[in-house]
Order: sequence, then C-alpha cells, then structure tokens
Amino acid sequence: MSKALEGVKILDFTHVQSGPTCTQLLAWFGADVIKVERPGAGDATRAQLQDLPDVDSLYFTMLNHNKRSITLDSKTPKGKEVLWRLVKECDVLVENFAPGALARMGLTWEKIHEANPRMILASVKGFGPGRYEECKVYENVAQCAGGSASTTGFRDGIPMVTGAQIGDSGTGLHLALGIVTALFHRTVTGLGQKVDCAMQDSVLNLCRVKLRDQQRLDHGPLTEYSQFGEGIPFGDSTPRAGNDSGGGQPGRILKCKGWEHDPNAYLYFITQAAVWAPICDIIGEPGWKTDPDYATPKARLPHLNEIFTRIEAWTMKHDKFEAMDILNEYDIPCGPILSMKEIAADESLRKTGTIVEVEHPTRGTYLTVGNPIKLSASPSEVTRSPLLGEHTDEILRSVLKYTDAEVDEIAHSGAVGRIEKIAAE
Ligand code: COA
Repeated sequence: MSKALEGVKILDFTHVQSGPTCTQLLAWFGADVIKVERPGAGDATRAQLQDLPDVDSLYFTMLNHNKRSITLDSKTPKGKEVLWRLVKECDVLVENFAPGALARMGLTWEKIHEANPRMILASVKGFGPGRYEECKVYENVAQCAGGSASTTGFRDGIPMVTGAQIGDSGTGLHLALGIVTALFHRTVTGLGQKVDCAMQDSVLNLCRVKLRDQQRLDHGPLTEYSQFGEGIPFGDSTPRAGNDSGGGQPGRILKCKGWEHDPNAYLYFITQAAVWAPICDIIGEPGWKTDPDYATPKARLPHLNEIFTRIEAWTMKHDKFEAMDILNEYDIPCGPILSMKEIAADESLRKTGTIVEVEHPTRGTYLTVGNPIKLSASPSEVTRSPLLGEHTDEILRSVLKYTDAEVDEIAHSGAVGRIEKIAAE
C-alpha cells in the first residue's frame, strides 16, 4: 500500500516542538522528511530532559519519528551551497526559527521562490504581524497570549496553563494542514506559496468558544457557568470556569470511590438533556424528572451546584470504570479521568497504533504516541527518530547527487558533522 504523501520531500528546518510536530505528521503520512540540524548539538531537545545519559531524550524522539537527519552548518559557504541544493530539490521548507533567523541565513521568500517556484515555505512564529511580531515564543507564552490561560483554572484562582500543548503541537497541526492545502493548490497553479501560522492565532482558534462567551456577556450572564448558580456577578471578560463544560450541556468532574488516595479517581459527568430521566433514576431523585425546578435544562441552570453534589454522592459509591459501565447502559455521556500510567497500558490504544513501542539503537525500547489520524489506504508505521547526522552521507549522495569527491570536499570544509564517523560505522 502506498503512503498518502509518498514522493513529497520536506526540508525540515524545525526544532523544539511546534515545527517538529508538523513535520513528524507529514513523515507519518509518507513524506521524505530531511531534518537539517546544526553539527555537534543538533536540535536542542536531543539533550533536554534526558532520562538516560548521552541518549537522545524522549522529548526529541517523540517529535522526530520517521525522519532522516543531516547535519549542516548553514552559516558556512559550503553549508549554504548544500542548503540551496536542498531548496531546489525539496517540495516544502518548514521552519520555526525566531523571527528574522531564516532571512539572516539568506533564505528569504523571494530568493526561495526564484530558486524553486514550486517550493512551499511554511513557518511557525509566536505572533503574526503586529506589536509582538519580533518576539521569541514558547508554549506557555502562546497559551497566555492566545486567550487560553485567562479562561482556564478556577474563578478565584490565578490564570492557568493546560497540560495539552496547544501552543506548540496545536500550531504544528495547523501548519501541517496549511502545507497539504498548499500542496493541493500547487496541483492547480504549479506554484508554491508561503504558509504562516502564529502560535497565538492557533491557540485562539482552539479557544474560540471563549470568544463566543465574551460576546454573549454583552447580552447577559453566562447561565451555564457555575458562577451563575452561585449568584456571583460576571465581570467584563470571559471568566475562568473551573471544570464547567464549555458547551451547552452542563458537566463537571466528580469524585469516585477511592478519591481520597487516588488523585485520578474522578469522572467527567455530563447532564445531557436527552438523558435527564435516567440520570434522575440512577441517582435516586426520580421526583426531579417532573419537578418544575429541575425538569427542564433552563430550570436546572440555577441549581447546577446542588445537582452535581447529588450526582457526586452517587459517583462516590462507584469506581470510575464501574460508574462508566452503569452510565453507558443509558447513553449518559461521561468519561474517566485517566492517568498517563493507565493510558500507557491501554490495550485499545496499543491495538490502533495510537500508543506504540519503538526500538532505538542507544535507548532500547520505548513507548510513544503514534499517528492519531487513521487513513484506511495509507496506514502509518512509526519508525525511530534518527541519530544526529545519521543520514548526512546518504542524503548528500542519493538525494543531492554529490559525487564522492564532492562529498569529501564538503566533509573537509567542516560544513557537515559526523560524516566520517557515520561512514566508518
Ligand atoms: N547552522 C547554523 N546556524 C543555525 C542552524 C544550522 N544548522 N540552525 C539554527 N541556526 C541558528 C539560527 O540561524 C539562529 O542564528 P541567528 O540568531 O544568529 O540568526 C540561531 O541558530 C538560533 O535560532 P533561534 O530560532 O533564535 O533559536 P533559540 O533557541 O534562540 O530560540 C525559539 C528558540 C523556539 C524561542 C525560537 O526559535 C522561536 O521563537 N521560534 C518561533 C516560535 C516557535 O516555534 N516556538 C515554539 C518552539 S516549540
């Protein structure tokens, strides 16, 4: 079976998380992703949060599967020459350097477009054009500037960042969609184009319901927020709403049996209107089915704290999986709070390839997240991340068609790293 992006060559000039997330996805779909790294050190994440000495970190491996690595000093004359040869050879250049860094290497859009009119240039930056466009940005800055932090956490606490990497991985996902869209457009125009994703914009795109609520505030209180039932007036911006459901069906995280000693003995419970009657029966409040204070979604809004306290009295009698089984019988939407330990052992996730075990020459076997997007005619296999410069020689010879003498010259110029070592291995 062929891969969906087979034949597409990606010049992967990305580092850390946002850009590598994007190029890893493209690699999973079959693109030939050539990761360009600085000789000696490579992507900084190789050495960050290391759990084993002198072994590529799990931070690096989880973002760089299915890629090839070439080391190249893009600031030396020979390195520049090789880089331009890659620009002419590849379909897409993906980068997430700090603003201005690519241009300082001489790679402006105008020059790239002139050298290879079919090339797509895809970039991640922290901010789009405007007052912060020159800023360097990491995940949590994007979560703060994109509206997520101000709307996450509890009303009476400080703004909170979330564990989901919506700034980095979220932007990488947006960029990948931009790239395949530009590749599709190129089949019509024959030309490449620029694809820009700002991390602030991507976070905002994922927080759009909170911008919706900002505008609803102009027309009255947000009645599905717990704060409404508690009689606490709203200010002039979307408040933090704890674990209140972000949609029109009220929901909360509730304690389950064992919560006193297990930090994840909780269940998310949604009081979907369609299943209100079985909810009332299960929790032992059949009268609430007809009581005018509880019978309709609107009537229930001022009583949400009382309702969820009553439901919690029921969930606390069951462990989260038992509660799931009982509630699912009645199609009541709910979900267990799963720890990473539980997820790592989840058989269904392993069966579908969402969690996979990978063999690595210096690390041994490790666990990682596989492709969450399943294509029926183009399945993904996760192959290990490359060692630093592992494919330098191979790329120079087989992709860029350098002769033996030219490869020697490049190696001796110092523009690439590890080439002799790799060749000798
Ligand atoms: N050969 C020679 N030089 C190289 C090189 C190579 N192969 N690869 C990178 N460099 C150089 C760059 O040219 C740059 O040099 P310059 O500043 O002299 O022009 C330098 O390395 C550092 O690049 P930079 O991107 O500034 O790295 P940083 O570690 O200082 O900053 C970020 C990291 C993530 C903050 C920054 O890259 C950034 O803001 N990126 C955009 C937003 C983003 O993606 N953030 C999320 C990261 S998960």
